[in-house]
Amino acid sequence: MKEAEMEEEEVLTHLDEFYAKNTSYKRVFSSMCTYPHPIAVKVHHKFIASNLGDPGLFAGTAEIEKRVVRWIGTMLHNPNATGYITTGGTESNIQAIRAARNSIGAKNPNIIVSESAHFSFDKISDLLQVEVRKAELDEEMRADISSVESLIDSNTVALVGIAGTTEFGQIDPIREMSTLAEEHNLFLHVDAAFGGFVIPFLERRYDFDFALSGVTSITSDPHKMGFSTIPAGGLLFREDHHIHHLQTETPYLTRRTQHSLSGTRSGASVAAAYAVMRHLGMKGYKKIVENCMDLTRRLVQRAGEIGIQPIIEPVTNVVVLDVPELNETRERLHKRGWMTSITRKPPGLRLVIMPHITEETLDSFIDDLKRVT
Ligand SMILES: Cc1ncc(COP(=O)(O)O)c(C=O)c1O
Repeated sequence: MKEAEMEEEEVLTHLDEFYAKNTSYKRVFSSMCTYPHPIAVKVHHKFIASNLGDPGLFAGTAEIEKRVVRWIGTMLHNPNATGYITTGGTESNIQAIRAARNSIGAKNPNIIVSESAHFSFDKISDLLQVEVRKAELDEEMRADISSVESLIDSNTVALVGIAGTTEFGQIDPIREMSTLAEEHNLFLHVDAAFGGFVIPFLERRYDFDFALSGVTSITSDPHKMGFSTIPAGGLLFREDHHIHHLQTETPYLTRRTQHSLSGTRSGASVAAAYAVMRHLGMKGYKKIVENCMDLTRRLVQRAGEIGIQPIIEPVTNVVVLDVPELNETRERLHKRGWMTSITRKPPGLRLVIMPHITEETLDSFIDDLKRVT
């Protein structure tokens, strides 16, 4: 830090230079986050000082968190689910697997995810000293259930199903996984970090949540399709006793125990999530998802008109296109201001159709895609 002080105005102007280097979401197809809803921004600001690491001091914010958990639980067919608002999908996944590992207590624990699992599971392997086994995918990029079953052994503590995969937006066969989990007495964690605020609003019904009796825990993030401020992830357990495996004693705080991974944690993003959920309601989210899905279909159709097909038919608002010269095409798009990403296996141009994408943006993207391919 410099020795001399700087006037507030000067600091703000100085920071504008950095802010200007950030990418606005307008032409971003590579992210699962978006502009937060304006009400979330306002409320985030209002609750900026609340620390849910010491909830006795912020009783009102702690009450809000309980409601957010109940609402997400209700969306996921279990209003009695227990949990808390994490920093995001990574923390939720870590904590869910930690609870599974601690409750089952195998000597050399392993978990089974699919090859399309988010990289947070690689962190989990390292942090929790749990072997992460990766099941093969079927042709539709879903976990192959026979491959999952073949990896189970006496040290397996959890199966993980993904509802809205990071790369393809695909939904694993969670019903079959639920049956397997019950047969083998295993935890079943569903990573719906992205899909949790999408799948309940799709026209087609998918079994992926607590309605399936084998599902033990779910990740569902307000800071992705929930339109809320960062950091806000949802971690929900089917029953109270699951979360007890995460408890630590906190002798000098206002409550005796804590189950979150971080100590000090944002109450602002919890209040923001509550505000946006209260404001939009189920109807508002449905409209947002319908709009994203309409644009997803439009993208597939317009890409088809220029001879480019998706690798799989999109299930959620993620499209992966089979484009020629993938890396060069992506680079040329980047030069025209488009942020896209790629999938690993099979390689394709990955586009997430978040609420910041408009019909106009999409059409202009397709025009550029035609020019560069
Ligand atoms: C399926 C899935 N799980 C977990 C995560 C990690 O979430 P976060 O970046 O909020 O930690 C992501 C991020 O995109 C994801 O798509």
